Amino acid sequence: MRVESLELANFRNYAALRFEPPEGACILVGRNAQGKSNVLEALALLALGKSFRAVRESDLIRLDAPAASVTARVRTRAGSATAGCVITRAGEGARKRFLRDGRSVSYGNFLGGIMAVTFVPADLALVTGPASLRRRLLNAALSQIDRGYYRDLAAYAKVLAQKNAFLKSPDAGDRALLATYNAQVVDIGARLVSARMAYVRRLAHDARVAHARWVNGAGELEVTYAPSPFQDAETTDAVSACLAGALEQLAPAEAARRVSLVGPHRDDLALSLGGRPLARYGSQGQQRTAVLAIKAAEYALAHAAAGEAPLLLLDDVLSELDEERRTAFLSSIAGFEQAFITATHVSDVALGMPHRVIRVSAGRLVDAPAHAISA
Ligand SMILES: Nc1ncnc2c1ncn2[C@@H]1O[C@H](COP(=O)(O)OP(=O)(O)O)[C@@H](O)[C@H]1O
Ligand SMILES: [Mg+2]
Repeated sequence: MRVESLELANFRNYAALRFEPPEGACILVGRNAQGKSNVLEALALLALGKSFRAVRESDLIRLDAPAASVTARVRTRAGSATAGCVITRAGEGARKRFLRDGRSVSYGNFLGGIMAVTFVPADLALVTGPASLRRRLLNAALSQIDRGYYRDLAAYAKVLAQKNAFLKSPDAGDRALLATYNAQVVDIGARLVSARMAYVRRLAHDARVAHARWVNGAGELEVTYAPSPFQDAETTDAVSACLAGALEQLAPAEAARRVSLVGPHRDDLALSLGGRPLARYGSQGQQRTAVLAIKAAEYALAHAAAGEAPLLLLDDVLSELDEERRTAFLSSIAGFEQAFITATHVSDVALGMPHRVIRVSAGRLVDAPAHAISA
């Protein structure tokens, strides 16, 4: 798929932008704090329904403006469509509205229209960083592929927040109330776990294959789902039973610590190389190669799910890779149709493929001179 035009109004540092991105690789270059990542963030917002970095959604709105909007015309195999998101200040926070071809649609129905795989500097810590990074990969990938997953994820977050508030409240001893929260944790949680289990199995396969091609037999990459509680149940019913059992067993500990201790919000991925945990035994180079294999696999699965190439959004990551890894990674992203790549200097990304360079300066985009349009 490809974005034919992108319009921003009062989004971050863009007062008004109309941008017709080229097909293929588009490199956004410019000094720091000019608005390169903001363009990627806008595109990711249309794919994920949320920012890949903002904690507060009101931060997406240009300072002093009441609302921001992001609209893109996208050509997919199914035809051409517009996708839009309007973010309006509401009290301390913000409210979002999603549009398809100019008409309001629910968040759940909005997702899946545009598919994007994002790769940001934080992803480089996928092996050594906190489990939340690995869960974020699963959630971003599955939300775009599977609308049911997104709905379950939102419902789970809600019930978890309610349960945690309950555990801290004076009612915390109420066994019946606890049982109603836990029943929902089990019901929704089991669906999330089943979806993650199936996804990780495919991710693990594709990542192992990509990795093996790169390292030439020097240790096999293993990606394994590590659900909370740990289990390898095969059916959703069996997952439910296991989760219910763990909640029962941990109820006294949850009451004592006043926080929910078990469930998919604590899931992780176990990553190992040649049977040894990568975070503890891997060299930095080995860890990085593993990250690239996992991101390449994520892209391949999104491609398969969409039936066409998703957008590729690379925010300041290519400049972090040595030439060998960069080449290996790019060649494994088979046939992307459109990629948005940010860098401080064009020379930092050394793409080795045709691309167009766009210069970003203080919330304006300028086509770089023709000599920069190189193969
Ligand atoms: N809500 C906002 N209103 C106005 N400017 C913003 C807003 N949020 C971020 N910015 C500005 O956007 C710029 C950062 O943009 P970013 O795309 O992250 O830069 P980079 O080019 O380094 O990737 C900064 O100058 C920051 O002040
Ligand atoms: Mg940036």
